[in-house]
Amino acid sequence: MTAHPDVAARATAGFQRAYGDTPAGRWAAPGRVNLIGEHTDYNDGFVLPFALPLRTVAAAAPHPDGTWTVCSELTGETVAFGADEVAAPGRVTGWAGYVAGVVWALRAAGHRVPGARLAVASDVPLGAGLSSSAALEAAVLTALVDLGGLDLPAEHRPRLAQRAENHYVGAPTGIMDQSAAIRCRAGHALFLDCRTERVEHIPFDLGVAGLAVLVIDSRSPHRHADGEYAARRASCEKAAALLGVPALRDVPAVDLDDALARLPDDEIRRRVRHVVTEDQRVLDTVALLRDGRTRHIGALLTASHASMRDDFAITVPQVDTAVEAALDAGALGARMTGGGFGGCVLALVEADRADAVAGAVEAAYAERGFTAPTHTTVAPAPGATRLD
Ligand code: GLA
Repeated sequence: MTAHPDVAARATAGFQRAYGDTPAGRWAAPGRVNLIGEHTDYNDGFVLPFALPLRTVAAAAPHPDGTWTVCSELTGETVAFGADEVAAPGRVTGWAGYVAGVVWALRAAGHRVPGARLAVASDVPLGAGLSSSAALEAAVLTALVDLGGLDLPAEHRPRLAQRAENHYVGAPTGIMDQSAAIRCRAGHALFLDCRTERVEHIPFDLGVAGLAVLVIDSRSPHRHADGEYAARRASCEKAAALLGVPALRDVPAVDLDDALARLPDDEIRRRVRHVVTEDQRVLDTVALLRDGRTRHIGALLTASHASMRDDFAITVPQVDTAVEAALDAGALGARMTGGGFGGCVLALVEADRADAVAGAVEAAYAERGFTAPTHTTVAPAPGATRLD
């Protein structure tokens, strides 16, 4: 999980290898961590992600014959498709499906998408819960918008990228990851209202506060993650219907007990409790950050983890171990970040304690015989951008 400064150069090299030509430009989009607000996005609630310095870069040039070809440094594959494959959701599969999905979503929104040759390279690790798919979608989307001179303001791009993922790829995700990849700013976390898509950039300057965010890849296998994600989403939608509200965002925290009393079983009550309390934790975190009380968000991060573990039931032993060990070693707060069932843990730490906390997590893993975790410290980076 180390950042290679040369990811853009690698994308260019891939382009030259694949097409024997130089690209017209390069576009970068980041992975993300979510500071707090998990499984709230598809409940029309609140999230607070920030962009990582790890990026996916697309080197691209127009393709006069109107088709699309994309090669991946990671897999070494080159995939070509035309309008017919784009028109049939799911037809292009695997990583290239995200690219075809972006073309599909742009066309579905009425844009004249230019044919293109693309080469992608990435530092965002796959399957670590850091939104490598949204980074790919955002890099390709930004490239195609620029190459085609399309009229698509940045604030409308996340919804379009989400449609690519929901309808072309077939993953029922919310809008957080695409919003982070496209709308984040350096030095800030992105406070997003997922219903209105209104954003506020919240200063999150860790250096000034003497703090660091440690991101630990739990290295746990993503078992059944897709089916479990869809099941959680279905439970939330069922609960909203039972409560007679458009989405769980419409259950105010002060009315939670009344709402819970109206639900038929303990499992659905726990799912609702997670979402409603998590929305409130996002609001509380934002209030503290606006006051410059960064240190004080730690307890909210840890409470979010407990809620994901006990109520939403999306953690696994590796992430619980990492969180516990980080807290025991003095982290101010720690939680799993992302969709769950593995992926990464983030810990808010005093900057000079980062190594000690990471070491404590490694030791706890070794004791339990888990595959050793990896870690890095991160600061909020910018969203999708044209490099040159
Ligand atoms: C995944 C999804 C997001 C969001 C998170 C959980 O990352 O892509 O839309 O639902 O899980 O917060």
